[in-house]
This record gives sequence, C-alpha cells and structure tokens, in this order.
Amino acid sequence: MAVQELDPGQRELRKEPFSGYHSREITESDALLTETGPRTPMGEYFRRFWLPICLSDHLTDLPKAVKTLGEDLVAFRDKSGRAGVMHRHCSHRGTSLEYGIVSERGIRCCYHGWLFDVDGTILETPGEPPDSRLKDSFFHGAYPATEIHGMVWAYMGPPDLIPDKPHLDFFEMPGIRLIPFALPYESNWLNSQENSMDPFHAVFLHGTDGQHFQNPSIGLHPNIKWRITGAGNGMVYMSVRRLDDDWIWARMNYCYMPFESYVPTTIELPKPTYYNAAIYLRQHIPVDDRRSILFGWRAYGTDRTIGPDHTRNGWNLTDVDGQTRRPSYEAAQRKAGDFEAQGSIWYGVPRPAIEHKGTTDTGVVMMRRQLREILEGDVPAAWPEPAKGHGETPKARKILAQDSVINVRRRADPDEDWNLLTRVGEEITDAVVEGSDRYDGEQRVGWIVERVKEIEARHRG
Ligand code: FES
Ligand SMILES: [Fe+2]
Repeated sequence: MAVQELDPGQRELRKEPFSGYHSREITESDALLTETGPRTPMGEYFRRFWLPICLSDHLTDLPKAVKTLGEDLVAFRDKSGRAGVMHRHCSHRGTSLEYGIVSERGIRCCYHGWLFDVDGTILETPGEPPDSRLKDSFFHGAYPATEIHGMVWAYMGPPDLIPDKPHLDFFEMPGIRLIPFALPYESNWLNSQENSMDPFHAVFLHGTDGQHFQNPSIGLHPNIKWRITGAGNGMVYMSVRRLDDDWIWARMNYCYMPFESYVPTTIELPKPTYYNAAIYLRQHIPVDDRRSILFGWRAYGTDRTIGPDHTRNGWNLTDVDGQTRRPSYEAAQRKAGDFEAQGSIWYGVPRPAIEHKGTTDTGVVMMRRQLREILEGDVPAAWPEPAKGHGETPKARKILAQDSVINVRRRADPDEDWNLLTRVGEEITDAVVEGSDRYDGEQRVGWIVERVKEIEARHRG
C-alpha cells in the first residue's frame, strides 16, 4: 500500500507566491498506518495486543457502550465481579447491550432476556422451548477482559495467539501508585503517538508560555537524538538542554510500538537529579479512524516519579496542561495545547503527501518507517508472542523514559559545548539501554544512576 504522492508538476506550481489555487487539494491519509478496522493491516497488528477499553470506574451497575478499533462493544462487570467485553449488539436480533441488565453471571439483553456469560456462552434464551438447542449452537462474540490498575483491558485478536497480559516494571516499583485516566481525542491515534517522538513541538507549543513545563528551559532549542531500541519495537529520543553555565538537563522519552508512549515529568527537578522515571504511561487507542482515546496511568508515590498534582486524573481529566479540550473555543485559540495542535491536523488524520517535513520531524519519519516495516513483516520480534499458558507473571517490560539534571560546566567554544551535549545525551541513552538489558528492578535503577554519576564526573569540566 503506497503512500499517496503529489505529482511533480503540482510541486513546481507551488514554488510561486499566491499559489493557493495550486495547493487546494487535500490528499488521502496513509491508510496503512491510520486505519485500524477489522482486516486492516494496522488493525490486525493492534489486535495482537491487550488494549485498554475503558476505565474501571466506568463499570457500575450499568453497562458501558464503548468503541475500539471501529468495533461497537459493551463493557460491564457482572455481579460476581468479572469484567466482560463483548460485541454490543445482541446476537438474537441486535438490540444494543448497553441497555442490558448486568447480572450475577454475565449480562442479559433487555429485549427478550437472553443471558450472555463474559466468554459469550449463551446461558439462557427464556422465550425458547426448554428443549431448544439454539443457545448451544453458537457463542455471542466476546473478548477476554481483565482489569489492571483501574483500567479495563481486552484482547480482540485471534484466540490462539493471545499474549500474556501487560506487565510493566512500573507495576513492581516499591511504593508506586498508578492513577488511570482516559482522554477522548477527535483525531486519529497516530497523531498522538507521533507526538511522543516529536520533541520540537515542546519547544514551541509548550515553550512559549510555560505550558505544562515548569522549567522555562523547555523553550530552548535542544540537542536531540532518536534511536530505535529493543527488538525494533521501541524508540527513544534524548533531548539535552543547557539550564545554565553549570547544569544540563537530559530528558528521554520512550515509545513502544504500536501504541504506548512514556513521558517524564513536567516539573522543575532538583539539581542534581539522577534518573527520575516517567510519570505518564500512555496508550493511544483508536476508537475508529477519526477518533482515539489517550488512555494512561499517572505514576506517583516513589521518589523517582516526582510530578505535579496526581489527584487530578480520570475521565477527560489530567494534571498535565493542554491534554484535553479547552473550556471554550476562544480559550483554545488563545492557548492551544496538545489537544488542539494534534487534533486539528488535517481534520484529525495526517496527510503525508502534503506535509513539508524537516530535520525536526526525524522522529516522526522514523516512527512511521518502523511501523511500516513491522506491518510488512520485516521486524518479526515486534509481534507479540502467544502466551506460554503457565499462568506465571511474565517478565516485566522495562520503560526507558527518564530525566537527569547533572553538573556539566559550559565550554567556552559554543560548538564544543554543543558537541558535549550530544556526547552526554548518547552516553546516558547507552546507560539506560544497557542497564535495562542487563538488570531488573531496583538493581537496574541503581546501576543506571551510578553510570549517570560517572558520566557527570567525566564531563564536569
Ligand atoms: S434482541 Fe436481545 S434477546 Fe432479543
Ligand atoms: Fe506536548
């Protein structure tokens, strides 16, 4: 599936002033990366992962209508406490189960009372004769569901390929608390996933009026290096800024294909700081091809997850400025945030053929290329392994995001100083990647912290 291109003649015509007439055309999106409905390549890739569906708080005595990857679903927690996620329309004659009755075991359709267990077993068909075999002849379409730290997750893929449930190193951090949130976006999932590898938007969008970052140095042009990590399904960027003549700030964001991104803190960190972990663990999940939900956990409670006001997180609510719709159109125009900037990209879906990308877009280009290669089968390790079925907790996946603030004196020659920032950034990235490959848990963090201290000592000047 090739990405649509403008024809060369059209590009030539745009090299004149007042060429609006020649640039009226709005090209198609990159369907391979943006479309996630059933049987699309990206949709089938997403369906190989466990996906957040809604918040646990959404499951009350009433069912919750949700839409994920273009499929209309209903989520509920039955009265015996089990989460259910199934196709929304009753398999009898199609009434929406959002009007169903949450039962001791499963959910009952409001129309003729059919009762469905969480796995789709049809337990009762009340109007049918007692000897009817109808209910035993098929299952209602259901997906395995589970609740993880206040979020309902489901696996929507082929049953024989179900992978282990998500398990992050954060789940094992001593003292950690994870508050779930879910932010509805009126734009394609790719817009917000790409944003996680676009560090230059922070310089302008968040750097102009102190938006969501306390430290005004976010507005400085950073020294950036991107890198593909792991088996080809991870990606990091390291952005290094000089805070003053003595201190530099090395900030590392991480994403994991296809839909996770991990963001370090937004508050001003103490000098020195060695490895402050991510505070924002996010999953960018398609509702359909025009809408998405930015799910996530706000991590706090350890001395490595220092951030702003963690209590302000939930449905359409989070403590990082600019992630949700402003209270009015005028407020949005006066102070656009990520919500407006990402959400307004070409009516919600990127159009590669009419973008004009520069060096600052390297991360976006790398991410798109990586996703494309994964879908084309060139990165087999980026496809989840089916679970082994032993019921053991899988090994925790490590999150590579961090902030460090270290004492490295400014060099007199600006070029030398800039090259020094590059070197320090690369060395800290190496330390985080190597430490994550070699060690687990607190041993891993301790090892990385020691390496960052060594880097500081080596380059202090
Ligand atoms: S439509 Fe659901 S039981 Fe008839
Ligand atoms: Fe942002």
